[in-house]
Amino acid sequence: MGILDKYSLAGKVAVVTGASRGLGKGYAIGLADAGATVICCADEDAKATADAINAAGGTSESILMDVTRIEETRKIFESIRDKYGKLDILINNAGVEDINKFVDVTPDQYDKIMGVNLRGTFFTAQAAARIMIGQKKGKILNIGSLGSAIGLAESSVYCGTKSGVVGITKTMAIELAKYNVQVNALGPGYFRTPMTEPFFQDPAHRKWIEERIPMGRTGTEDDALGAVIFLCGEASDYITGQIVYVDGGWLAS
Ligand SMILES: NC(=O)c1ccc[n+]([C@@H]2O[C@H](COP(=O)([O-])OP(=O)(O)OC[C@H]3O[C@@H](n4cnc5c(N)ncnc54)[C@H](OP(=O)(O)O)[C@@H]3O)[C@@H](O)[C@H]2O)c1
Repeated sequence: MGILDKYSLAGKVAVVTGASRGLGKGYAIGLADAGATVICCADEDAKATADAINAAGGTSESILMDVTRIEETRKIFESIRDKYGKLDILINNAGVEDINKFVDVTPDQYDKIMGVNLRGTFFTAQAAARIMIGQKKGKILNIGSLGSAIGLAESSVYCGTKSGVVGITKTMAIELAKYNVQVNALGPGYFRTPMTEPFFQDPAHRKWIEERIPMGRTGTEDDALGAVIFLCGEASDYITGQIVYVDGGWLAS
């Protein structure tokens, strides 16, 4: 097998959570472009992502999955394994944000963000890992953020969850290494999506973001895909427990 073949995802079966819009939709389309069969999970809107993949000649389906419903999520993963015979890749992308000052955060806001970003990420990864352990092969890509490495004002709970994603990722990597399951995280910088749109609607905040990025611009979907395909394919088989930031240089300065 040549080195470029190790970047191909042909024949792989991948699940992407939060695939209805934003970065998750881009990851799903990118995985399909690299050859994977992609199961797009979220609410009904993920059907549009699967339809776009199928229309472009790829193979995809959409499944309703709320990552806060642990038992349902586990059953969905088992049904995917039963239908496709295996699960090669999980992109654990579903996430929420609810901006508020630390002193004003309510218990409900805290529970909501923690419930999706940390608890949901944890148990979705667990559901995938249980299948991957059995087949002694797999790739899990958890989604972090700049908030995995630094604090971001008015995002205290979000940063708590994304720091937690790093801890989960490293520990999973250690425990799953002997089963040939690699677990890494991706740390996107600022990408314009429905989640970050409130920041971009505020001209001062937008200016601050763009000036803060050494490359002078926010990320596009394509900017994230190179790292995603690498971390989901055989080219990265000896890399586990890492977080790769795709941030235009933000964390370097
Ligand atoms: N955009 C950025 O600049 C940026 C930077 C760093 C990290 N990230 C991370 O990247 C991920 C995607 O962000 P995004 O900007 O693309 O956000 P987005 O546009 O708001 O999309 C979030 C996705 O998560 C899904 N989701 C939310 N709650 C869910 C739940 N309980 N169960 C299943 N799916 C759920 C949403 O689907 P439904 O609501 O339809 O279920 C949607 O598909 C998040 O983890 C985010 O923290 C984003």
